[in-house]
Amino acid sequence: MGKEIYDMLREKPEITPKEINGAMDFALEQVRDNLKDFTYSFKRAFSEQGFYTPTENVNWTTGFWTGQVWLAWEWARKQGQRELADELKKAGEVHIDSFLDRICHKREVDHHDMGFLYSPSCVAGYKLTGSEKGREAAVKAADQLITRFHPVGEFIQAWGPMDQPENYRFIIDCLLNLPLLYWASQETGDEKYREIAEKHIHTAIANVIREDYSTWHTFFMNMETGAPDHGATCQGYRDGSAWARGQAWGVYGTAMAYRYTGRKEYIEDFKHVTGYFLEHLPLDLVPYWDLEFGEGSDEPRDSSSASIAACGMLEMAGYMDQKEGEYYKGIARKIMKSVADNYAVKSPKESNGLVLHSTYSKKSPYNTCTPEGVDECNIWGDYFYMEALTRLAGEWNPYW
Ligand code: GLY
Repeated sequence: MGKEIYDMLREKPEITPKEINGAMDFALEQVRDNLKDFTYSFKRAFSEQGFYTPTENVNWTTGFWTGQVWLAWEWARKQGQRELADELKKAGEVHIDSFLDRICHKREVDHHDMGFLYSPSCVAGYKLTGSEKGREAAVKAADQLITRFHPVGEFIQAWGPMDQPENYRFIIDCLLNLPLLYWASQETGDEKYREIAEKHIHTAIANVIREDYSTWHTFFMNMETGAPDHGATCQGYRDGSAWARGQAWGVYGTAMAYRYTGRKEYIEDFKHVTGYFLEHLPLDLVPYWDLEFGEGSDEPRDSSSASIAACGMLEMAGYMDQKEGEYYKGIARKIMKSVADNYAVKSPKESNGLVLHSTYSKKSPYNTCTPEGVDECNIWGDYFYMEALTRLAGEWNPYW
């Protein structure tokens, strides 16, 4: 769209408090109906023809299902639905047992996604209900995460064995894994987690934002010298394009970077990265899977990026003066109106998820991803939809 988006945004309707409540009530029902199939198992990362199937506690994504259970628990309590809240709490506790077992046995934890796994599940369970098992599991997960820190280059490596140049890189998504480290320092009194998080944030933000404020998905560092080497995509359309979800992780990630460091330059980074995101939205404010594609494209959307970016704007709005904060809150309300009206599931017959039209990984001639979950629900899209609505409904203490 370019700069004309700002004129168009002025005309867009905002989601109303009544619509937020209606959307959350439906999400609560959907989560409750899912407990029968997904208490002793987890939802897979993405649906198939609208329906999730069960999986063990594997992959980087299961925390988002437990996160939905905790958001539903908070909503049920707010509505005075005590029995339902108890049912949800029990499910959350079963999940926490599974997460503790997973980290104790180090099952599929040899990657950087400890924050995505353990913040919305175990940190949330500890913050909300005082779960000691949740606390133990999340501290162990933070210990696991810092094993991936490279002092040469000062970053947390995303994937793969630690001693190969082809894996010597971080990815923009990791900014959302770092709140786990800040939480661990606060809980244990040990500063090592915070120090590592801060170094990673600095390295990541210094290198991942391009001159035009689009972002690299992944960035390689020189293994010998630690100097920045080059950016590359994995899930975006091509190296030089802006993968929609990467840009959305950048919006939320810069907001989180400011929350935890208080460094004013991250507010400016947030505004630039958010500006690029907004200026590349189509008319209905929900991006295609890569921001290369604009209004009228046949490419699939990634609705999860819309909700993630809205959460980032709502987070950052809390640190701005009232006028500026209201501006970003207003945009978040407009984006969420479109997600709720045009993308959210309206009936359990249609899907057992919450939001349709997300794209996990789409193969292009130029990227290196494995294609999966194209134009489906995905589990973080459902989670961030609920998180954005929860933030819009009133005060909320983040799980991050
Ligand atoms: N963090 C991986 C993704 O956003 O697909």
